[in-house]
Amino acid sequence: MRIFVPPIKCQGIKTKLVSWISESLDFDYQGRWIEPFFGSGVVGFNMRPKNAIFADTNPHLINFYKDIQTEKITPGLVREFLEFEGNNLQSKGSDCYYEIRTRFNDQFESLDFLFLNRACFNGMIRFNKNGKFNVPFCKKENRFAKAYITKIVNQVDNIRTLILNHDWTFLVQDFHDTVKLAKEGDLLYCDPPYIDRHVDYYNGWSEAEEKELFTALSNTKANFILSTWHSNKYRENEYIKTLWSNFYIVTKNHFYHVGASERNRNEMLEALVCNFSPRIISSTLQEDEQLVLLEPRINYENKKAI
Ligand SMILES: C[S@@+](CC[C@H](N)C(=O)[O-])C[C@H]1O[C@@H](n2cnc3c(N)ncnc32)[C@H](O)[C@@H]1O
Repeated sequence: MRIFVPPIKCQGIKTKLVSWISESLDFDYQGRWIEPFFGSGVVGFNMRPKNAIFADTNPHLINFYKDIQTEKITPGLVREFLEFEGNNLQSKGSDCYYEIRTRFNDQFESLDFLFLNRACFNGMIRFNKNGKFNVPFCKKENRFAKAYITKIVNQVDNIRTLILNHDWTFLVQDFHDTVKLAKEGDLLYCDPPYIDRHVDYYNGWSEAEEKELFTALSNTKANFILSTWHSNKYRENEYIKTLWSNFYIVTKNHFYHVGASERNRNEMLEALVCNFSPRIISSTLQEDEQLVLLEPRINYENKKAI
Protein backbone atom coordinates (compact mmCIF):
# COMPACT_ATOMS: atom_id res chain seq x y z
CA MET A 1 0.00 0.00 0.00
CA ARG A 2 1.39 3.40 -0.92
CA ILE A 3 1.17 5.66 2.11
CA PHE A 4 0.85 9.41 1.54
CA VAL A 5 2.82 11.16 4.26
CA PRO A 6 1.15 14.45 5.21
CA PRO A 7 3.18 17.70 5.29
CA ILE A 8 2.36 18.38 8.97
CA LYS A 9 3.79 16.16 11.71
CA CYS A 10 2.34 15.75 15.18
CA GLN A 11 2.88 13.75 18.35
CA GLY A 12 1.49 10.25 18.14
CA ILE A 13 1.42 10.30 14.31
CA LYS A 14 0.25 6.88 13.15
CA THR A 15 2.06 6.50 9.85
CA LYS A 16 2.82 2.85 10.67
CA LEU A 17 -0.69 2.11 11.81
CA VAL A 18 -2.38 2.94 8.51
CA SER A 19 -1.38 -0.24 6.72
CA TRP A 20 -2.13 -2.25 9.84
CA ILE A 21 -5.71 -0.95 9.89
CA SER A 22 -6.32 -1.20 6.21
CA GLU A 23 -4.48 -4.46 5.52
CA SER A 24 -5.35 -6.51 8.57
CA LEU A 25 -8.93 -5.45 9.33
CA ASP A 26 -11.43 -6.12 6.62
CA PHE A 27 -14.49 -4.00 7.34
CA ASP A 28 -17.22 -2.37 5.30
CA TYR A 29 -19.08 0.79 6.02
CA GLN A 30 -21.72 2.40 3.89
CA GLY A 31 -21.67 5.83 5.48
CA ARG A 32 -18.99 8.33 6.39
CA TRP A 33 -15.51 7.95 7.89
CA ILE A 34 -15.56 10.16 11.00
CA GLU A 35 -12.31 10.96 12.76
CA PRO A 36 -12.61 13.04 15.98
CA PHE A 37 -8.83 13.15 16.74
CA PHE A 38 -7.46 13.92 13.30
CA GLY A 39 -3.90 15.06 14.19
CA SER A 40 -1.67 15.01 11.12
CA GLY A 41 -4.43 13.29 9.16
CA VAL A 42 -2.25 10.39 8.04
CA VAL A 43 -4.89 7.75 8.85
CA GLY A 44 -7.95 9.44 7.34
CA PHE A 45 -6.16 10.67 4.23
CA ASN A 46 -4.78 7.22 3.47
CA MET A 47 -8.05 5.41 4.03
CA ARG A 48 -9.36 7.66 1.24
CA PRO A 49 -13.04 7.54 2.27
CA LYS A 50 -15.56 8.95 -0.20
CA ASN A 51 -17.25 11.05 2.49
CA ALA A 52 -15.58 12.05 5.72
CA ILE A 53 -15.62 14.35 8.72
CA PHE A 54 -12.15 15.15 10.01
CA ALA A 55 -12.08 17.02 13.34
CA ASP A 56 -9.64 18.04 16.03
CA THR A 57 -9.54 20.65 18.79
CA ASN A 58 -6.22 21.97 17.47
CA PRO A 59 -7.34 24.70 15.03
CA HIS A 60 -3.91 24.99 13.40
CA LEU A 61 -3.97 21.42 12.09
CA ILE A 62 -7.51 21.69 10.77
CA ASN A 63 -7.05 25.20 9.32
CA PHE A 64 -3.97 24.06 7.44
CA TYR A 65 -6.04 21.47 5.57
CA LYS A 66 -9.00 23.84 5.16
CA ASP A 67 -6.60 26.32 3.53
CA ILE A 68 -5.54 23.61 1.07
CA GLN A 69 -9.21 22.82 0.40
CA THR A 70 -10.08 26.45 -0.36
CA GLU A 71 -6.82 26.82 -2.32
CA LYS A 72 -5.58 29.59 -0.08
CA ILE A 73 -2.49 27.39 0.03
CA THR A 74 -1.18 25.73 -3.15
CA PRO A 75 2.00 23.73 -3.79
CA GLY A 76 3.36 26.73 -5.74
CA LEU A 77 2.79 29.11 -2.82
CA VAL A 78 4.36 26.65 -0.40
CA ARG A 79 7.49 26.43 -2.56
CA GLU A 80 7.73 30.21 -2.90
CA PHE A 81 7.24 30.75 0.83
CA LEU A 82 9.72 28.08 1.97
CA GLU A 83 12.35 29.25 -0.52
CA PHE A 84 11.98 32.83 0.71
CA GLU A 85 11.95 32.05 4.44
CA GLY A 86 14.51 29.24 3.99
CA ASN A 87 16.94 31.83 2.57
CA ASN A 88 16.19 34.14 5.50
CA LEU A 89 16.85 31.28 7.90
CA GLN A 90 20.16 30.57 6.20
CA SER A 91 21.29 34.19 6.56
CA LYS A 92 19.71 35.22 9.88
CA GLY A 93 19.76 31.85 11.68
CA SER A 94 17.65 31.39 14.78
CA ASP A 95 16.45 35.05 14.73
CA CYS A 96 14.45 34.22 11.61
CA TYR A 97 12.87 31.18 13.30
CA TYR A 98 11.87 33.17 16.39
CA GLU A 99 10.47 36.05 14.28
CA ILE A 100 8.25 33.59 12.44
CA ARG A 101 7.23 32.00 15.73
CA THR A 102 6.19 35.42 17.09
CA ARG A 103 4.32 36.20 13.87
CA PHE A 104 2.53 32.84 13.99
CA ASN A 105 1.50 33.37 17.62
CA ASP A 106 -0.04 36.69 16.58
CA GLN A 107 -1.67 35.83 13.24
CA PHE A 108 -1.88 32.00 13.19
CA GLU A 109 -1.21 31.68 9.45
CA SER A 110 -0.92 28.18 8.00
CA LEU A 111 2.30 28.77 6.05
CA ASP A 112 4.05 29.95 9.21
CA PHE A 113 2.70 26.89 10.99
CA LEU A 114 4.18 24.64 8.28
CA PHE A 115 7.54 26.42 8.55
CA LEU A 116 7.63 26.01 12.35
CA ASN A 117 6.44 22.43 12.18
CA ARG A 118 9.31 21.54 9.86
CA ALA A 119 12.04 23.65 11.49
CA CYS A 120 11.35 23.19 15.20
CA PHE A 121 13.23 20.98 17.62
CA ASN A 122 12.42 17.28 17.09
CA GLY A 123 9.46 18.11 14.85
CA MET A 124 7.22 18.47 17.90
CA ILE A 125 4.15 20.62 18.04
CA ARG A 126 3.61 21.92 21.53
CA PHE A 127 1.59 24.90 22.74
CA ASN A 128 1.82 26.60 26.14
CA LYS A 129 -1.12 27.17 28.46
CA ASN A 130 -2.07 30.31 26.52
CA GLY A 131 -2.25 28.37 23.27
CA LYS A 132 1.02 29.81 21.92
CA PHE A 133 3.50 27.65 20.00
CA ASN A 134 6.61 27.36 22.15
CA VAL A 135 8.97 24.79 20.61
CA PRO A 136 12.57 26.00 20.10
CA PHE A 137 14.52 25.97 16.84
CA CYS A 138 16.14 22.74 15.61
CA LYS A 139 19.36 24.73 15.15
CA LYS A 140 19.81 23.74 11.51
CA GLU A 141 20.13 26.98 9.54
CA ASN A 142 20.19 25.10 6.24
CA ARG A 143 16.99 23.23 7.12
CA PHE A 144 15.20 24.20 3.92
CA ALA A 145 17.62 22.83 1.34
CA LYS A 146 16.19 22.45 -2.15
CA ALA A 147 15.51 18.70 -1.85
CA TYR A 148 13.72 19.18 1.50
CA ILE A 149 11.49 21.91 0.08
CA THR A 150 10.64 19.69 -2.90
CA LYS A 151 9.76 16.85 -0.53
CA ILE A 152 7.37 19.10 1.45
CA VAL A 153 5.86 20.58 -1.74
CA ASN A 154 5.19 17.04 -3.03
CA GLN A 155 3.54 16.12 0.26
CA VAL A 156 1.28 19.18 0.00
CA ASP A 157 0.52 18.34 -3.63
CA ASN A 158 -0.45 14.72 -2.85
CA ILE A 159 -2.72 15.75 0.01
CA ARG A 160 -4.24 18.56 -2.09
CA THR A 161 -5.14 16.05 -4.85
CA LEU A 162 -6.84 13.84 -2.27
CA ILE A 163 -8.69 16.75 -0.63
CA LEU A 164 -9.92 18.30 -3.88
CA ASN A 165 -11.22 14.95 -5.14
CA HIS A 166 -13.19 13.90 -2.10
CA ASP A 167 -16.18 15.08 -0.12
CA TRP A 168 -14.39 15.83 3.14
CA THR A 169 -15.41 18.26 5.89
CA PHE A 170 -12.82 19.68 8.30
CA LEU A 171 -14.04 20.83 11.72
CA VAL A 172 -12.40 22.37 14.77
CA GLN A 173 -14.33 20.79 17.60
CA ASP A 174 -14.20 18.59 20.67
CA PHE A 175 -14.65 14.82 20.30
CA HIS A 176 -17.96 14.88 22.22
CA ASP A 177 -19.54 16.86 19.36
CA THR A 178 -17.87 14.83 16.64
CA VAL A 179 -18.91 11.44 18.05
CA LYS A 180 -22.51 12.76 18.26
CA LEU A 181 -22.51 13.31 14.48
CA ALA A 182 -22.00 9.61 13.78
CA LYS A 183 -25.01 7.59 12.61
CA GLU A 184 -25.60 3.94 11.84
CA GLY A 185 -23.48 2.96 8.83
CA ASP A 186 -20.70 5.46 9.63
CA LEU A 187 -17.28 4.40 10.84
CA LEU A 188 -15.64 6.33 13.69
CA TYR A 189 -11.87 6.09 13.92
CA CYS A 190 -10.61 7.45 17.26
CA ASP A 191 -6.99 8.07 18.17
CA PRO A 192 -7.02 10.15 21.38
CA PRO A 193 -3.84 11.32 23.13
CA TYR A 194 -2.38 8.78 25.54
CA ILE A 195 -2.75 9.71 29.20
CA ASP A 196 0.43 11.17 30.75
CA ARG A 197 2.27 11.60 27.46
CA HIS A 198 3.01 14.70 25.38
CA VAL A 199 0.80 16.93 27.50
CA ASP A 200 0.33 20.43 26.07
CA TYR A 201 -2.53 22.88 25.47
CA TYR A 202 -4.15 20.65 22.82
CA ASN A 203 -2.93 17.24 23.96
CA GLY A 204 -3.92 16.87 27.60
CA TRP A 205 -5.96 13.76 28.28
CA SER A 206 -7.46 12.81 31.62
CA GLU A 207 -9.08 9.75 33.09
CA ALA A 208 -12.41 11.61 32.96
CA GLU A 209 -12.01 12.15 29.20
CA GLU A 210 -11.10 8.49 28.66
CA LYS A 211 -14.31 7.52 30.48
CA GLU A 212 -16.39 10.06 28.57
CA LEU A 213 -15.02 8.72 25.30
CA PHE A 214 -15.86 5.21 26.47
CA THR A 215 -19.45 6.26 27.25
CA ALA A 216 -19.83 8.10 23.93
CA LEU A 217 -18.50 5.13 21.96
CA SER A 218 -20.58 2.64 23.98
CA ASN A 219 -23.71 4.57 22.99
CA THR A 220 -22.96 5.24 19.33
CA LYS A 221 -24.97 3.53 16.61
CA ALA A 222 -21.97 3.75 14.29
CA ASN A 223 -19.14 1.24 14.15
CA PHE A 224 -15.92 2.37 15.74
CA ILE A 225 -12.22 1.55 15.82
CA LEU A 226 -10.16 3.01 18.67
CA SER A 227 -6.37 3.04 18.62
CA THR A 228 -4.65 2.59 21.93
CA TRP A 229 -1.80 0.70 23.52
CA HIS A 230 -2.25 -2.61 25.28
CA SER A 231 0.97 -3.25 27.20
CA ASN A 232 4.72 -3.25 27.16
CA LYS A 233 7.35 -5.06 29.22
CA TYR A 234 6.76 -2.77 32.19
CA ARG A 235 3.07 -1.95 32.32
CA GLU A 236 -0.38 -2.65 31.04
CA ASN A 237 -2.88 -0.06 29.91
CA GLU A 238 -5.33 -0.35 32.82
CA TYR A 239 -8.22 0.98 30.73
CA ILE A 240 -8.10 -2.09 28.52
CA LYS A 241 -9.29 -4.23 31.42
CA THR A 242 -11.52 -1.69 33.15
CA LEU A 243 -13.22 -0.23 30.06
CA TRP A 244 -12.30 -1.37 26.59
CA SER A 245 -12.55 -5.12 27.08
CA ASN A 246 -16.31 -4.72 26.64
CA PHE A 247 -15.41 -4.76 22.95
CA TYR A 248 -13.33 -6.78 20.48
CA ILE A 249 -9.63 -6.00 20.74
CA VAL A 250 -7.00 -6.83 18.15
CA THR A 251 -3.41 -6.52 19.31
CA LYS A 252 -0.24 -6.50 17.27
CA ASN A 253 3.25 -6.80 18.63
CA HIS A 254 5.78 -4.24 17.62
CA PHE A 255 9.49 -4.29 18.44
CA TYR A 256 11.60 -1.29 19.18
CA HIS A 257 15.28 -1.15 20.02
CA VAL A 258 17.00 0.76 22.77
CA GLY A 259 20.61 0.98 21.58
CA ALA A 260 22.20 -1.47 19.20
CA SER A 261 22.17 -4.65 21.28
CA GLU A 262 19.77 -7.43 20.32
CA ARG A 263 19.15 -7.95 24.08
CA ASN A 264 17.51 -4.55 24.23
CA ARG A 265 14.78 -5.48 21.83
CA ASN A 266 11.57 -4.46 23.55
CA GLU A 267 8.12 -5.54 22.63
CA MET A 268 5.11 -3.26 22.66
CA LEU A 269 1.56 -4.36 22.04
CA GLU A 270 -0.55 -1.90 20.05
CA ALA A 271 -4.30 -2.34 20.21
CA LEU A 272 -7.32 -1.63 18.06
CA VAL A 273 -10.63 -1.75 19.92
CA CYS A 274 -13.75 -2.34 17.77
CA ASN A 275 -17.47 -2.62 18.50
CA PHE A 276 -17.83 -5.16 15.68
CA SER A 277 -16.21 -8.51 15.12
CA PRO A 278 -13.34 -7.69 12.78
CA ARG A 279 -12.40 -10.00 9.92
CA ILE A 280 -8.67 -10.46 10.28
CA ILE A 281 -6.21 -10.79 7.41
CA SER A 282 -2.80 -11.90 8.61
CA SER A 283 -1.05 -12.50 5.28
CA THR A 284 0.65 -9.08 5.32
CA LEU A 285 2.39 -9.62 8.69
CA GLN A 286 6.18 -9.69 9.05
CA GLU A 287 7.80 -12.89 10.34
CA ASP A 288 7.94 -11.84 14.01
CA GLU A 289 4.55 -10.13 14.09
CA GLN A 290 1.46 -11.69 15.51
CA LEU A 291 -2.13 -10.53 15.70
CA VAL A 292 -4.27 -11.63 18.64
CA LEU A 293 -8.02 -11.21 18.85
CA LEU A 294 -9.53 -10.75 22.30
CA GLU A 295 -13.24 -11.44 22.41
CA PRO A 296 -15.43 -9.02 24.41
CA ARG A 297 -15.21 -9.13 28.20
CA ILE A 298 -17.13 -12.33 28.70
CA ASN A 299 -14.30 -14.27 27.07
CA TYR A 300 -11.52 -11.94 28.07
CA GLU A 301 -9.15 -14.74 28.96
CA ASN A 302 -9.99 -16.44 25.70
CA LYS A 303 -7.19 -15.20 23.49
CA LYS A 304 -7.31 -16.34 19.91
CA ALA A 305 -4.05 -16.26 17.99
CA ILE A 306 -4.84 -15.66 14.35
C1 LIG B 1 -2.60 10.99 19.03
S1 LIG B 1 -3.06 12.50 18.23
C2 LIG B 1 -3.81 11.91 16.75
C3 LIG B 1 -2.78 11.42 15.79
C4 LIG B 1 -3.32 11.10 14.42
N1 LIG B 1 -4.07 9.86 14.41
C5 LIG B 1 -2.15 11.00 13.45
O1 LIG B 1 -1.81 9.89 13.03
O2 LIG B 1 -1.55 12.01 13.15
C6 LIG B 1 -4.40 13.08 19.17
C7 LIG B 1 -5.08 14.32 18.62
O3 LIG B 1 -6.23 14.58 19.44
C8 LIG B 1 -6.42 15.98 19.53
N2 LIG B 1 -7.25 16.21 20.74
C9 LIG B 1 -6.86 16.25 22.03
N3 LIG B 1 -7.93 16.42 22.85
C10 LIG B 1 -9.03 16.45 22.04
C11 LIG B 1 -10.42 16.58 22.28
N4 LIG B 1 -10.91 16.72 23.53
N5 LIG B 1 -11.27 16.56 21.22
C12 LIG B 1 -10.78 16.45 19.95
N6 LIG B 1 -9.46 16.34 19.65
C13 LIG B 1 -8.59 16.33 20.69
C14 LIG B 1 -5.02 16.57 19.59
O4 LIG B 1 -5.03 17.90 19.13
C15 LIG B 1 -4.25 15.61 18.66
O5 LIG B 1 -4.17 16.14 17.36
